[in-house]
Amino acid sequence: MQNILSIIVLCSVSYLTACDSSSETTVVTSNEEIDLRQLLKVPEHFAIPPIPDFNVPTREKIELGRRLFYDTKLSANQTQSCASCHKQSLAFSDGKVTPKGSTGEQLVRNSQGLANSAYHPTLTWANKVFLEIEDQLQVPIRADDPVELGVTPIYVDEVLARFNNDNVYIGLFANAFPESSTGATLNKIIQALATFCRTLISGDSPYDRYYQGDKTALTQQQLLGFQLFNGEKFECFHCHGGINFSTSYRDNNSNLGTQTYPFFNNGLYNLNGDGSYPTDDQGLFDQTFNPNHRGFFRPPSLRNVALTAPYMHDGSIATLREVIDHYLRGGRLIENGPNAGDGRLNPLKSGLVRGFSASEEEIAAVIAFLESLTDENFVNNPDFSNPFSEK
Ligand code: HEC
Ligand code: HEC
Repeated sequence: MQNILSIIVLCSVSYLTACDSSSETTVVTSNEEIDLRQLLKVPEHFAIPPIPDFNVPTREKIELGRRLFYDTKLSANQTQSCASCHKQSLAFSDGKVTPKGSTGEQLVRNSQGLANSAYHPTLTWANKVFLEIEDQLQVPIRADDPVELGVTPIYVDEVLARFNNDNVYIGLFANAFPESSTGATLNKIIQALATFCRTLISGDSPYDRYYQGDKTALTQQQLLGFQLFNGEKFECFHCHGGINFSTSYRDNNSNLGTQTYPFFNNGLYNLNGDGSYPTDDQGLFDQTFNPNHRGFFRPPSLRNVALTAPYMHDGSIATLREVIDHYLRGGRLIENGPNAGDGRLNPLKSGLVRGFSASEEEIAAVIAFLESLTDENFVNNPDFSNPFSEK
């Protein structure tokens, strides 16, 4: 997909050749980048996230998106908003194993944190066709099985009328979409929400301060943990490496031709000894029907991971210590019940999840390092907070 910066660059270059051939085109390009960097408040040491050409971010879309994110008017029965499952204090996760939708239906997956979602080339725990946040947002808004916000076809007009009869929203929609006079539509709602989500960038943790040169920002224990995380015993970095601590990563410099969509089986289950996961969620397999994709999930970003418990796609691991124990064993053993099986022996498990031994000191150090990815300024940033609770 073409992205917005390349369009801006092309326009700037043709403008310059027509009007001022002496100027440096690179200067103009970086000015455009600076505008986007300022609008999305991208930290200096982050590249700009890719922006789809059909949804150019503006201050007005961000403002509308933030209000919609927190507004229960966006659910058919007016009981839930996006923030019901994505709480700022928990880095936009919800602390539950798996959430329920607005009508009480149970979801099978754990609510994801939303920090730096814009840098993920695929959205959700395991989906290789949701390549933009806009694609993903169709699900919580419209889905009927299970219902989340429940804006199914019979409710669309009623929900849109709530916004079209509200003077604050009439103004916000007009400002965010000045080229259109038709008021609220689901498409505009999704574009504004996706734009707000792209501003949810977390890059101001102690780790980031260390990365930017403040050598006192991490403790000795955290530094040891960082080395172990990036070493060949723990192997974490192979799947959780890079600036967003996930190899499922893209930014505005990524080459779409070589963009990868990594998914792995990390040995959580092994039903019947044949590699299967519980039938209600087999990860990528449920989309591709390729039996080799059973248990394949996107490596999640580990930013703010100390705030986003419980862990894994089904919330089945409660603490970071238990996550480390899982990797130490090289897969999870479930002795009894319908999900019994030894994940260590899962034939589809990644070869990088082999199991290893580590001292208590090393385990504590890796956990301390993971805690250094907590960004207090992100979870307290007033730009992301509930606008309805402001005075
Ligand atoms: C009932 C709970 C619930 C509600 C309401 C909800 N979400 Fe989610 N959200 C989830 C779950 C669960 C996932 C993981 C889905 C999956 O893997 O299939 C998710 C995933 C996401 C993702 C993908 C993140 C990533 O990095 O891949 C985004 C973005 C998102 N939600 C934004 C929103 C927005 C915006 C709204 C409001 C329109 C919303 N969600 C409403 C539970 C919810
Ligand atoms: C082969 C790739 C791979 C390696 C190596 C790996 N992980 Fe993971 N990790 C994953 C995948 C995939 C998931 C999601 C699995 C799922 O939900 O079923 C995950 C999930 C996690 C989670 C849960 C995050 C959340 O938001 O729920 C944590 C924490 C984690 N890994 C930490 C580590 C640590 C620490 C190491 C090193 C000891 C490590 N991982 C090694 C691929 C990997």
